[in-house]
Amino acid sequence: MVSMDTLVSLCKRRGFVFQSSEIYGGTGSCWDYGPLGVELKNNIKRVWWRDFVQRRPDMVGLDASILMHAMVWKASGHVDHFTDPMVDCRECRHRFRADQIDEMPWVHYCPATKGNKFTIPAGEVCTHCGARRTLCPDCGKGELTAPRQFNLMFKTFMGPVEEDAAVTYLRPETAQGIFVNFDNVLQSTRRKLPFGIGQIGKAFRNEITPGNFIFRTREFEQMEIEYFVNPHDTVEGRPADEHWHDRWIEDCLAWFKRYGIQEENLRLHEHGPDELAHYAKRTADVQFRFPIGWSELMGIANRTDFDLKQHAKWSGKALTYFDEERKEHVVPFVIEPSAGVDRALLAFLADAYREEEVRGEKRVVLRFHPELAPVSVAILPLLKKRDDIVRTAHALRDELARDLTVVYDDTAAIGRLYRRQDEVGTPYCVTVDVQTVGASDKGEAADGKVTIRDRDSMEQVRVPAARVRAVIGELLGGRPWADVAAAAGGAEAPATRAS
Ligand code: GAP
Repeated sequence: MVSMDTLVSLCKRRGFVFQSSEIYGGTGSCWDYGPLGVELKNNIKRVWWRDFVQRRPDMVGLDASILMHAMVWKASGHVDHFTDPMVDCRECRHRFRADQIDEMPWVHYCPATKGNKFTIPAGEVCTHCGARRTLCPDCGKGELTAPRQFNLMFKTFMGPVEEDAAVTYLRPETAQGIFVNFDNVLQSTRRKLPFGIGQIGKAFRNEITPGNFIFRTREFEQMEIEYFVNPHDTVEGRPADEHWHDRWIEDCLAWFKRYGIQEENLRLHEHGPDELAHYAKRTADVQFRFPIGWSELMGIANRTDFDLKQHAKWSGKALTYFDEERKEHVVPFVIEPSAGVDRALLAFLADAYREEEVRGEKRVVLRFHPELAPVSVAILPLLKKRDDIVRTAHALRDELARDLTVVYDDTAAIGRLYRRQDEVGTPYCVTVDVQTVGASDKGEAADGKVTIRDRDSMEQVRVPAARVRAVIGELLGGRPWADVAAAAGGAEAPATRAS
């Protein structure tokens, strides 16, 4: 697996992700998505929305506001319970999550070696003096304060007066916007159970120890689904909530694999009794093998009827569904597949990263699924001094850019241009050369064909320029490269042209 440092440096160099407010020294754990990052992020959100909301007959969408009534967070339990235990170093003032401090390497000034400084791996004792960590893991000198509970919600004020009555919060999850709109959606869409509501949006958490690039940040985006199920129904002899929970776990795993995440980098983690939230009947996390090790990519929880009941209690409004068959009002159970956009982006990026050797040289390539790749096609004129080549290349760019993300690059030799596109994961390059436009001075006729080059195999085929949009469309739609190559009369191996 690629290292985090390699990814951070590639992301900055090629315009995927920049540190927020970098010219002022940067902010703690906020990141900005650059020209390629925003395309990648939009593609992830687009295919998620298409696959889970638009294409499913049992789903609808929602876009709730970030600022909500303060009571929402009282009812949801976030005001009282959305806390992490925090400790501070009395010496260097660094702050840590008390429950994660033993998972960090620690600095130790060892008395058995005249006070030499060592950095000892997480959880281990000093091999010289046998000491365990008791002091600050960062400076190795300061005493730590006793743990205090720290609420992770960002507090703010609604309106001009900063008084208690005006306090509200930036939402720490998008989910509550769905719960409080349950009845609005039910009434306006006349849905029957089971059905779900999907939402993509920003969430904010004042994390004590953000870090690991975009893995844990204070501002991030979530793609969440609340799937409402009649708890009195059974499917295939099992309670409907349990059946749907399993189905959503399968669907989420299949979705990540469909967009290229390798099977060996994904696994499920079932929450044990000590991890399970008090409202959850069962939670399974999809974990990914991140550069920092196996960690949560998304969670899929059975939240039972907890949230709807809480909001009904605090708002005084019934949040029930009328079961026509049984002639009874029920509070649906909720299955919640909840994924972070930024974390998904990091997973897609890390999984796609490859270093390969091509004819004795290193090639860095991001093997993104073509639908996720930030740039779908690069148009590369072989000679930038030939007006007819440049004109043809620009015309192609304009045609493809109507509905695809396209770049035009003529700033280096063709081999270098291909490598640049490989490094950002562009699945197809289209080259316009002398053969395309002909060379009248040498009596060579134009063949009107351009070269399409496949990122992964580095093979090339020549197709009529007029067919390029259609061929690229087929490739992006899933038609195998080998098929396209065969239809075009066979592919040329990477070595026969500059690749
Ligand atoms: N509504 C349920 C919920 O919010 P969660 O496990 O706290 O559950 C869901 O968050 C997902 O949101 C996580 O699996 C992760 O992908 C993402 N996420 C949570 N906190 C994050 C943070 N501080 N930075 C980036 N992503 C985060």
